[in-house]
Amino acid sequence: MVDARQRLGHLWRRGTEFLGCEVAILGGAMSWISERSLVAALSNAGGFGVIACGSMPPDRLAEEIAATQDLTARPFGVNLITMHPELDRLIDVCGQMGVGHVVLAGGLPGSAAIKRAKDTGARVMCFAPALVAAKKLIRSGADALVIEGTEAGGHIGPVATGVLAQEILPEMAAQVPVFVAGGIGRGEAIVSYLEMGAVGVQLGTRFVCATECVAHPNFKQAFIRAAARDAVPTVQVDPAFPVIPVRALANEGSRRFVRFQHEVIARYRAGELEMKAAQLEIEHYWAGALRRAVIDGDVETGSVMAGQSVGMVTREQPCAEIIAELVLQAEAALAARATPAPLEA
Ligand SMILES: Cc1cc2nc3c(=O)[nH]c(=O)nc-3n(C[C@H](O)[C@H](O)[C@H](O)COP(=O)(O)O)c2cc1C
Repeated sequence: MVDARQRLGHLWRRGTEFLGCEVAILGGAMSWISERSLVAALSNAGGFGVIACGSMPPDRLAEEIAATQDLTARPFGVNLITMHPELDRLIDVCGQMGVGHVVLAGGLPGSAAIKRAKDTGARVMCFAPALVAAKKLIRSGADALVIEGTEAGGHIGPVATGVLAQEILPEMAAQVPVFVAGGIGRGEAIVSYLEMGAVGVQLGTRFVCATECVAHPNFKQAFIRAAARDAVPTVQVDPAFPVIPVRALANEGSRRFVRFQHEVIARYRAGELEMKAAQLEIEHYWAGALRRAVIDGDVETGSVMAGQSVGMVTREQPCAEIIAELVLQAEAALAARATPAPLEA
């Protein structure tokens, strides 16, 4: 296993050097979930925690960063949503508090936001949903990319992780560090993406049932019970009324959402609602629903965002144990490659 350990260290060295940690596994930012406790635990375990700023105002973000710094001396990042109305102020807060890595999520960031974050001295990571976007982000100054496939929990694109990895890694891996996210639940998968040129990975779903995660026990139980096929994208009933695709566990809330869309669209067709008003009603259906599930434990009507790797979440475990398990699986996979099974006669 010593060779396998060295080989793994070599495979993700660019990632660990970029992040300043031992294990190139990012804990993907999850709104309401990735706060001080989980973020510090991930970084203390040798991985890299990322605070989810979500809709926090700048002073709340400053408070969360300070509280995380009290819990860990190791590096961690902050994930900012690009459409946040106070994005510039949030970037400045990260700069003032010495955050080393800023992740810009939720739509392609403009070069001004990337530059502002880089000017604070931070390294900037951006999500690339396609090869053209990856090239544009690098031209705009992104220091690293995260490519996230449709298997992921939360807001998703349409393309599978394995396809994005094949399209983007061969072209971009030499230019900037690329981290792969979406559907990763075991170390063997981590090794395969590293061998394709990734420098590390980002996992979200796998860390929801960490002991240190503050999510409500109902939320964690829903993860422990669920299988991969339960984590499904939001259903859109009419192409004229687009819905934002989010992968979450199917529940009463998602079934009601389908009925709700039909009702709203019927009111529009009957002339009772303007198209814009109908679209807004549909968009507002899920407002506050993630918080309701994560914090209040309403897993029936709340949004239980989860990726397809949820089937590999089987119990509550400390972050350090989850990371150690992933690393052991990765090392075992590499050791097996070094000693191939003899061919059958
Ligand atoms: C409950 C939940 C909430 C999430 N919230 C965010 C978020 O606020 N911002 C973001 O960039 N990604 C968010 N994500 C995506 C994660 O950061 C991560 O990229 C994703 O979970 C990786 O795929 P996986 O779920 O298959 O591990 C969320 C994911 C989950 C499961």
